[in-house]
Amino acid sequence: MTSARGLVAAQSARFTSLDPLLPSAVEPPTDGHVITAALADGARVAGVISHKTYEEHSTIRLWSTAHVWELLPLVGSSQGMDALLTRFRRHLDTHQPDDEDSACVVHWPSRDTRAARAFLDHGLVPLSVLAVRLRTPQPRVPRTLTIRRATPHDLDSVLELSLAELEYSSFVGGTIVRPEARAVKQRALAERLANASPIWLAERDGIAVALAECAIVSSEPGTMAATRLPRGRWGYVNCVSVLPGARGTGIGQQLVAYAHQELHRMGAVGTYLYYNPPNPLSSVFWPRQGYRPLWTVWEVRPAAALR
Ligand SMILES: CC(C)(COP(=O)(O)OP(=O)(O)OC[C@H]1O[C@@H](n2cnc3c(N)ncnc32)[C@H](O)[C@@H]1OP(=O)(O)O)[C@@H](O)C(=O)NCCC(=O)NCCS
Repeated sequence: MTSARGLVAAQSARFTSLDPLLPSAVEPPTDGHVITAALADGARVAGVISHKTYEEHSTIRLWSTAHVWELLPLVGSSQGMDALLTRFRRHLDTHQPDDEDSACVVHWPSRDTRAARAFLDHGLVPLSVLAVRLRTPQPRVPRTLTIRRATPHDLDSVLELSLAELEYSSFVGGTIVRPEARAVKQRALAERLANASPIWLAERDGIAVALAECAIVSSEPGTMAATRLPRGRWGYVNCVSVLPGARGTGIGQQLVAYAHQELHRMGAVGTYLYYNPPNPLSSVFWPRQGYRPLWTVWEVRPAAALR
């Protein structure tokens, strides 16, 4: 990829003009398969296809397929996404991904609508978005619930609320309720609670009715976060779940307002999360809490269904 540096620079400029919150483009990793395409005007575009298989019983398999073919496009300032996706399809023709538990994935700036057209034409769907909210004064939300930090003693409540979200999201997004889901979640949450991770419970009459499971993530040069977010400390809102019978009564709003306040107190410049556009609750809820899409995760399952 001789002109890779030029493409990276042009792609960074494209990102900046699309959305001021996008970080600069980076050179794709060297351990994937390089594809290139020539456009009608003579320009060339490139991309790297990375093929990963995630271990059984890993947390990642609760929201991802076992086998993932990810395209990292380097299209610079061109409208070359369609040509690159055609090459991606051709690459799959020679590798025949026949596993049903597989996907083709591309992360791309949400505001790049020209590229969105190409993704749709090739059978990819906007299965989730990475949405951000900068630290801004928020209207005071009157508190009617007890909100407190979860401890290892709360594992059962935290697990049930987390599984309720997993189940709901499995109907409207990429989440998969695998047979080992409970055991995998239990192990991960026990570890997070033991490490005093920023996890909060909202209680009504002493009963846990909602969960906000969060983390602090640093976007520094060389980190994965830096390829997605502006520099700085960020609050990551991993899972918010309100008990099924209690949804739509203002509990989520109260808990999230509290979590924002605490994450900012810990130094977060902003907060981010993933939600599924087909989720009729979260797709309304998160924009109401001040979030907006930065990256869209385009996906097609199984991988062989890429057009
Ligand atoms: C998404 C969720 C956390 C929101 O919490 P909630 O307590 O139900 O939401 P609230 O009652 O605080 O509602 C806040 C806003 O969201 C929107 N909203 C909530 N429920 C809604 C519904 N049933 N239909 C449309 N909008 C709704 C409303 O706009 C509301 O704002 P408003 O009252 O000012 O109009 C909760 O519904 C939930 O756990 N859903 C299932 C799991 C899930 O999807 N988690 C998020 C994954 S990213």
